[in-house]
Amino acid sequence: MKFALLIFAAGLALVEPHGYVHTPLSRTSIFRRPNEFPGAQQPFWWDDTGVWCGNVQQNQQYSTCGRCGDAPGNTHANQGGRYDKGIITGTYNAGQAITVTVEFTANHRGGFMFELCPQVSENNNCFQRLNINSADRGVRDNNWACSGGDHQNGLTRAVVQLPAGVRCTRCTLRWTYRTSYPPAPDACWQPNNTQTFRNCVDIRIN
Ligand SMILES: *[C@@H]1O[C@H](CO)[C@@H](O)[C@H](O)[C@H]1NC(C)=O
Repeated sequence: MKFALLIFAAGLALVEPHGYVHTPLSRTSIFRRPNEFPGAQQPFWWDDTGVWCGNVQQNQQYSTCGRCGDAPGNTHANQGGRYDKGIITGTYNAGQAITVTVEFTANHRGGFMFELCPQVSENNNCFQRLNINSADRGVRDNNWACSGGDHQNGLTRAVVQLPAGVRCTRCTLRWTYRTSYPPAPDACWQPNNTQTFRNCVDIRIN
C-alpha cells in the first residue's frame, strides 16, 4: 500500500506542471494571493502552473497557442475571459527596467520571453517583444532568458525593459516559456515544436 502510494505520488510529480509568473502575478494565478488581490478564482481546467497551450507543442510562431496560454481555440485566460477580474498586479513607470520573477515548479529547460501589449484593449496582434537586460540564468540576443537546467525549480528573475513613453492604465505583459521538451542539445532553445507555456499579466504603466 505504501509502495502504491509512492508510485502514485511519483506519477503526480511527473504530471505536475511547470511554472507561472510570480511577480507581477499572472492573471491566471491571482487566486494565490487573496489577501493582496481579493476576488479571483482558481482556474477550473488546469493547474495555474500549467497554462500550456493545452499541451499542444508549439512552433516558433506559437501558431495554435491561445493568446494567454489557452488550449487552441479557447479564450478563458484572455482579457475579457473568465479569469480576467480587471485586477492590476504591478504598477510601473514608463521606461523602467522592471524585475519580473517567474516560479518554476518543473523546469523543462528552454527559455522565455516577455512581450507588452501597450494598449488597454488586448488583441492578438498588439504584443511587442521587450528587451531583457539581465536574467539569473542567462540571456540570449538581449530578449531571451534561459530557464535553467532540468528540475532547476523555484524563483528566477529577469530584468525587463519597458519602452520609454508607453503609458497605460492597464496593459498586458505576456510571458511565453518555450521549453526544451522534447529535449534539444541547446538547453536554452528548442527550434522544433515544443511544449510551451504562456501567462498574461495585467499591469499599469505611469
Ligand atoms: C528536430 O526534429 C527533427 C525531426 O524529428 C530531429 O531529427 C532533430 O534532431 C530535432 N532537432 C532538435 C534540435 O531537437
